[in-house]
This record gives sequence, C-alpha cells and structure tokens, in this order.
Amino acid sequence: MATLVAAKPEAVLGFATGTSPMPLYRELERRVAAGLDLSRVRGFALDEYVNLSPEHPGSYHSVISREVVEPLGMRRDLVTVPDGSAADLELACEVFERTISLAGGIDLQILGIGTDGHIGFNEPTSSLASRTRIKTLMPSTRADNARFFASIDDVPIHCVTQGLGTILEAKRIFLFASGESKAAAVAAAVEGPVSSFCPASALQMHPHAVLFLDDAAASRLQQIDYYRYVQEHKDGWRVP
Ligand code: F6R
Repeated sequence: MATLVAAKPEAVLGFATGTSPMPLYRELERRVAAGLDLSRVRGFALDEYVNLSPEHPGSYHSVISREVVEPLGMRRDLVTVPDGSAADLELACEVFERTISLAGGIDLQILGIGTDGHIGFNEPTSSLASRTRIKTLMPSTRADNARFFASIDDVPIHCVTQGLGTILEAKRIFLFASGESKAAAVAAAVEGPVSSFCPASALQMHPHAVLFLDDAAASRLQQIDYYRYVQEHKDGWRVP
C-alpha cells in the first residue's frame, strides 16, 4: 500500500472494517508518522449497517473515522462510506457506485473474510455479479459482530454492501485472515469451486488477489505445501 501511494499520491483505496485489517492500519499509521503522506488518497469503505446512526461507535462511519481517516491523516471529505441511513437507500447505493466510478475505480481493495465466506457483507448465495445493494445479514454474522455492540439484539439485521461485481473491479485485492475460525472459509475460497455459496471464492476470478493468512487460517488448505513452495521459488524463473 505504501509503495502504491508513494507512486500515486492520489491512489484510490478500499477499506474493510472488522478486526482483520487493523494490524495493517496500525502499520500504515507508523509509516505515516515516519513521513508517508496519505492526505491526497481517496478512500471507500466496503459496507455499512442500515439504520444505525453514523455516530454509533459500531457504525462503519465511526470505525473508518476512528481507525483509518484520523490516524492515517486522510481527508474526511475524500473518504466515502455507504450511506445506510439514507431515506432512499437504493438511490444511495447507486450514488455510491457512481462515486467509485468517478474516482476512476479502486486501485487496491483491502478485505477480511467472514466465517461464512462473506467478503464485504455479501453473504452466501450473493450474486457473483452483484453491485452495491441492501443485504440481510446471516444470523451467524450478527453473532460474530455482536462483540462490537452492547448485545446481539443491537446488531442491525440489514446492511448496504459493495457487491461481488463491484469488489472484483478493484485493480488489486489484499485479503487478510487470521485464526482457526476462518480456516474453513479460507479453504473454500481458495480451493473450493467458484460458487456464490462461498462468496470469497469469486476472488479466484480476479487476476491480482493476494491472501495474507496466519498458520491457523491456512490450516485447512490441502495444497499448503505447494503454496509455500511457490513462494520459495517465486522469482526463480528470472534470468540472473
Ligand atoms: C467489514 C467487512 C467484513 C469483514 C468480515 C471479517 O467491512 O466487510 O467482510 O471483513 O466480517 O471480519 P473480522 O475481520 O472482524 O473477522
């Protein structure tokens, strides 16, 4: 990310919320303190809860301000979060899509993955061609995210999220996953068939999607030895 922004100070970055990308944001914060300038970078969030006040600490408006915009010295007006409180939500989704297009598309999209294989809030059986729209969260996703709310009953049932088609248009994608709870979803995403049943499997169709996994998240990959071997020999074909 730092290399991209150094080469293109007005780069367009896509930000996930949740726990997985936080170490990345904290590392970027350290680099900003050391001189990296993100003040001209344009940003887009992946998703937002419906009818949750943007001031609620669990809203993605709040999370993006608190964890990304402020610590990374970004301009608030250059960072767009889908509007989950709009009177006309469908129109707000269309405007969000258009805003991404007008910015020239997303250069680098950061993703996490849900235990059910979602990316953004594209729950299982989301259309692989979907655009930003209203979705109903799986009860398991509401349970996973209850830690950010006073109780599970406070977790909204609906959200607006970039679609899988929207996400696949990003020029590059980095997905971060850690922990055993993500292992099955990671295995299905990487080694399963491309299927809306595991929305993250849509990344198999993307030419520049990279997964960053800890050992626990990678523990169910059948071909893990091959992937390590590939990394070891990555540049071996180059003529010395
Ligand atoms: C968040 C998002 C979600 C999360 C996923 C994993 O903006 O779109 O797809 O990335 O639910 O969440 P964590 O990282 O909290 O396990």
